[in-house]
Amino acid sequence: MSKLWGGRFTKKTDQLVEEYTASIMFDKELAEEDIQGSLAHVTMLGKCGILPADDVEKIKDGLLKVQGMIRRGEMEFTIGDEDIHMNIEKALIDEIGPVGGKLHTGRSRNDQVATDMHLYLRKRVVEFVGLLGKLQEALIGQAKANVDTILPGYTHLQRAQPILFAHHLMAYVSMFQRDAERLMDSYKRINMLPLGAGALAGTTFPIDRHFVAQQLGFDGPYENSLDAVSDRDFIIEFLSNASMIMMHLSRFCEEMVLWSSTEFHFVELDDAFCTGSSIMPQKKNPDVAELVRGKTGRVYGNLFGLLTVLKSLPLAYNKDMQEDKEGMFDTVRTLQGALQLFAPMVSTMKVNKDRMRQAVNQDFSNATDIADYLVNKGLPFRQAHEVIGKTVLYCIQNNKFLLDLALEEFHQFSKLFEADIFDVLQPERVVNARNVYGGTAAGQVEGAIGRAEKTLEQTNAWFEQYYAKSR
Ligand code: ARG
Repeated sequence: MSKLWGGRFTKKTDQLVEEYTASIMFDKELAEEDIQGSLAHVTMLGKCGILPADDVEKIKDGLLKVQGMIRRGEMEFTIGDEDIHMNIEKALIDEIGPVGGKLHTGRSRNDQVATDMHLYLRKRVVEFVGLLGKLQEALIGQAKANVDTILPGYTHLQRAQPILFAHHLMAYVSMFQRDAERLMDSYKRINMLPLGAGALAGTTFPIDRHFVAQQLGFDGPYENSLDAVSDRDFIIEFLSNASMIMMHLSRFCEEMVLWSSTEFHFVELDDAFCTGSSIMPQKKNPDVAELVRGKTGRVYGNLFGLLTVLKSLPLAYNKDMQEDKEGMFDTVRTLQGALQLFAPMVSTMKVNKDRMRQAVNQDFSNATDIADYLVNKGLPFRQAHEVIGKTVLYCIQNNKFLLDLALEEFHQFSKLFEADIFDVLQPERVVNARNVYGGTAAGQVEGAIGRAEKTLEQTNAWFEQYYAKSR
């Protein structure tokens, strides 16, 4: 069968070249969007009097038939037809005859493929906002169940100050909220119509780009035809947002891997989210957390891949840009997999409250509080820091913790200590003393949970509203 663009050629394409340049193996994923865009385009051609109503109807019917074939899995995609656009156009012509050849009036594959990508990505971005919402819900659920769970907070992975487990989880809720906001904000840059830019310069036909934009639910057409077909910023922005989400997930993964180790034993991941060892019968491995952590690498790779493809590319379309697809599809799949598994993994995670508490009782994470205690008695903070440093050293040398010391022992380091020091050292006191906005005191954390639930309601409302719009 001859090529749709075969007119100026006298020789057949080399078989290897055909295989090398084709994209149908992966861009068939854009079939729905390609047909959606074509339906809007041909409707516009009719409305503007560029094609007679008759032809428009035939083409629309034909496109819907092709759509049916694809949905039923009956379409045979061929490398000879290079990409999804020409596979569909060829199938259309096979279906309705030469009139099908009128569909491509006033458009190019360059503005067509860009349109498909915009249609595809806006759906995915909305879905990801929804999935992030589900994950936040799971985190908030665990946080609510753990407003009385105290564990050591860490800096440098060394015990620092005791915190509520709920506070730790809510940190992730904030991170994923920023991720959701970045995606929602990116929507307006994705929701632009390239179609009508033609190959690069516009078209001689009296088309109506605003009408097409409106039909497809885009906010409007691209301002500049060269930019419309050259722009892949919106994909890079998505890959960057996806990288940030994976980075956040991977930090949480790392904590779950640590926390579920025998050494920490702070949490136990549900059996359904772990796997065993083929040789060591006792093992229960946090594979999901490890794999999400590991897959962060390919998502970063896809971002850098496309940044590099676009680097130094002259305007407008270049075949290099066909390389925008596989990395994007791969990132979409990787992120879907990670987010889908993460929410239930978090909500089914068993929290070992006693073990966390025991850890807090056997450390020096209350040391800052006795320094603050001396400050409240009038000692400058630097001197208080020195006094407590010495006190801690004494404890280490004598195999004790601060709560084990007698008042006389405290007095070796400062006469300012009084009997109330023992209350100050209690983990609950230590936690609740951090009663500042954003701090770990139980009241503050409860406030944060309430506010996060309100924000989540708004995010979910956005999801509901845009889900329908983006289809
Ligand atoms: N398959 C191509 C891509 O994904 C479609 C655009 C082709 N345009 C062209 N002038 N060869 O980039």
